[in-house]
Amino acid sequence: MQQHRTQVVIVGAGPAGMLLGLLLEKAGVDCIVLERRSREHVLSRIRAGLLEPGAVEFLRDSGVGERMDQIGRPRDGTRIAWQGRPSFMINVKKWTGLEMMAYGQTFLTEDLYSMREATGTPYFDQITDLEIEGIDGTRPEVSFTTAGHSVRVQCDFVIGCDGAQGPCSQLIPESIRQVYERKFPFGWLGIMVEAPPIDDFTYIRHETGFALAAQRTPMLSRYYVQSRLDEGPEAWSDDRFWDTFLGRCPPEIAAQVTTGPSIEKSLAALRSRVVEPMRWGRLFLAGDAAHVFPPTGAKGLNMALSDIQLLSAALIAHFSEKDDRLLDSYSADALSRVWAAQHLSWRMTKLLHIFPTDDPYDRKIRQAEYDLILKSEEVQRALAFEYAGLPNLRG
Ligand code: APR
Ligand code: PHB
Repeated sequence: MQQHRTQVVIVGAGPAGMLLGLLLEKAGVDCIVLERRSREHVLSRIRAGLLEPGAVEFLRDSGVGERMDQIGRPRDGTRIAWQGRPSFMINVKKWTGLEMMAYGQTFLTEDLYSMREATGTPYFDQITDLEIEGIDGTRPEVSFTTAGHSVRVQCDFVIGCDGAQGPCSQLIPESIRQVYERKFPFGWLGIMVEAPPIDDFTYIRHETGFALAAQRTPMLSRYYVQSRLDEGPEAWSDDRFWDTFLGRCPPEIAAQVTTGPSIEKSLAALRSRVVEPMRWGRLFLAGDAAHVFPPTGAKGLNMALSDIQLLSAALIAHFSEKDDRLLDSYSADALSRVWAAQHLSWRMTKLLHIFPTDDPYDRKIRQAEYDLILKSEEVQRALAFEYAGLPNLRG
């Protein structure tokens, strides 16, 4: 059994864990990152690709913005196309003066992995037998198996960046832990296509369901349709996908779309989840480990970055200035941002999808909400403000 001592053990090497590791290492705080899967597996996951202005700024400040600024695509906001009504732009640029950025999570994760190689943050992948003890005392211990040998690490803090399925949130005793959850009765069937995307990220509302045109690079597009949860990707031929997608688009949007064979196809269920508190003793949760968002507002990655912004500052203040105020307020500070983002995602999900239980009254109410957005600059400003995530990352 190998024995180590470090200051911070980070469980999970998705964007949250990798960015935290990098920031701590830069500030001279010792840490190790543990990941259950292989690097190839982590880098093959396809997730959303729209960053809020505050997230863009935070990545630049963290020294991770170079490739994002080269190949990312600044965006004014996101369009909503509504059957039988004019389309409308959630114009973040106009109302906040700041830009969104189209940059795939997979690109960001690649950037973080190559920076790790440069800085050398200790990292173990394909670990098994993870055990975490002592988070309610002063010296937590984390043990695991890697490449056939057992390792035991003593540390000051354990950070659960282990995603929605990870074990860390369950270390909070049941009597303390609150889980708030909403499952939506549909999913998004997504495809990746090697073809130029349409100009704007566009959410599409149609009586047969929601659709989304998204983008990665000038030659890589991502499209989604609202779909049933009991039909996996194998039930969706490319022809069926394009018929459904184009059938939901207003003609002027359909005319912009370059169709093509899919190079990837997957189904994601839509759900919301928040675990409270985000700190228990010497355990802190960040990213999907603490919260899941339906993808309608693109909040998942942005909120993982928001947590890391708070938590990195709090840990650095603890180790370099012996100041625990930010650590003590982390859970409350992070959760106030998280709930604001939950509200936006819930509102957008309800507005834009067709629910199996919808009746004509529900349809009229949604129509009224959209008409109000079209008519009122005050409502447009408020929506742009929430969509941009302000003051979530700055407050
Ligand atoms: N031990 C070690 N690692 C683990 C364990 C475990 N027992 N369980 C899970 N993990 C790893 C997962 O394999 C994964 O690589 O934790 C990582 C969590 O990464 P993400 O799921 O990418 O979560 P996070 O870093 O919080 O990023 C949030 O990801 O799911 C999207 O929409 C979400 O975009 C957001 C972003
Ligand atoms: C994506 O780029 O895949 C994407 C963009 C915006 C969303 C969801 C997904 O709201």
